[in-house]
Amino acid sequence: SRTVSRAADGVVSVGGIDVKRLADEFGTPGFFLDESDFRERCRAWRDAFGEDADVFYAGKAFLSRAIVRWLHEEGLNLDVCSGGELATALAAGMPAERIALHGNNKSTEEITRAVEAGVGRIVLDSFQEIVRVAHIAERLGKRQRVQIRVTVGVEAHTHEFIATAHEDQKFGLALAGGQAAEAVRRALKLDGLELVGIHSHIGSQIFDMAGFEVSARRVVQLLAEVRDEHGVELPEIDLGGGLGIAYTSEDDPREPREIAAALRDIVTRECAAAGLAVPRISVEPGRAIVGPTAFTLYEVGTVKELPGLRTYVSVDGGMSDNIRTALYDADYSVALVSRTSTAEPMLTRVVGKHCESGDIVVRDAFLPADVAPGDLLAVPATGAYCRSMASNYNHALRPPVVAVTDGEARVIVRRETEEDLLRLDVG
Ligand code: LLP
Repeated sequence: SRTVSRAADGVVSVGGIDVKRLADEFGTPGFFLDESDFRERCRAWRDAFGEDADVFYAGKAFLSRAIVRWLHEEGLNLDVCSGGELATALAAGMPAERIALHGNNKSTEEITRAVEAGVGRIVLDSFQEIVRVAHIAERLGKRQRVQIRVTVGVEAHTHEFIATAHEDQKFGLALAGGQAAEAVRRALKLDGLELVGIHSHIGSQIFDMAGFEVSARRVVQLLAEVRDEHGVELPEIDLGGGLGIAYTSEDDPREPREIAAALRDIVTRECAAAGLAVPRISVEPGRAIVGPTAFTLYEVGTVKELPGLRTYVSVDGGMSDNIRTALYDADYSVALVSRTSTAEPMLTRVVGKHCESGDIVVRDAFLPADVAPGDLLAVPATGAYCRSMASNYNHALRPPVVAVTDGEARVIVRRETEEDLLRLDVG
């Protein structure tokens, strides 16, 4: 977050409010999200891509009504991938034409609701779905704008991309072997569909632009093939999301401006070579916008020293509010934020309160050797895929999300209560 500072007494503030006050007022664990930072990042992406491109925020990273309103105000569009995300987007007033619907197994109900609402695009992911969306649109007397999601043969991993085994996953239709071209053929024949473009998403937490370059090149090649076969120039391409953020000081993310320039250059060059007009480009960053804007605040409950091994520092949350360490072996950092300490740094493992040993928040963390119950710890860069992937494991109450800006803090998603849990339990 961009508005974090530490006072002489060691107490950290965000957006002008110190963490002790945040913990007193809102409790721990909690997600504290810097609204100004979020809005600035939206604007940076918008400005970098300019008027002839669209930025679709990927709602799966984190979505709430406040987020939708901020996106709307900052001129971003929204990518949703479920009925629940669509309902949130519409409830918060996002104009339907600025919403894109994704997913490899959208239900008939989800598709119907999206077409009825008039979403700007549905991204088609299988042969069956091409027919399904066309039929629903025809039945509703509409022509639905669609893109076809293709797999370009680039599999992006954290920090690298490799070009093997890429087609062996559930998303999209492969360029190799002609499934993508066949999907275009079928979509162009159906009255209920207006095929406007091709979509490619290569992976997540990527730092290297090389994977995007290959992806853009192959998508443009498909546009040229479509022109040659059908005499149609599809007007749009979407290059997906996946831009990496700094979880620790070892990560070195690209700025939106650099990313936009690189993508625009490669698309322009490939289109010139193929004799195509440059299509409208869109991207779908989720993590890169919301990830860095929030941190999780925890309180230390117990400290257990295992002689000759390590010290376990247990906090009042864990895998129910951040599954990423357990699921992806993700790296996070952590800091003592409620006081200064002159104690020596000590290698610790910060763990949660859940009933399994894999419940790790930060695998290897240096904390002052006098870390003790009652201390507040902050884990930065938890804005993406933490609250949105939170669970009620062990009947944990999912933490609130509090927006902090200019000396004010307000809850945008409240903490769950035991009543919330019991309300669903109707046995
Ligand atoms: N567009 C599509 C079609 C996607 O599938 C995704 C992410 C995005 C955009 C946004 O990607 P981002 O810019 O946020 O990396 N739960 C995982 C990430 C899964 C992402 C799935 N799709 C995590 O915690 O890292």
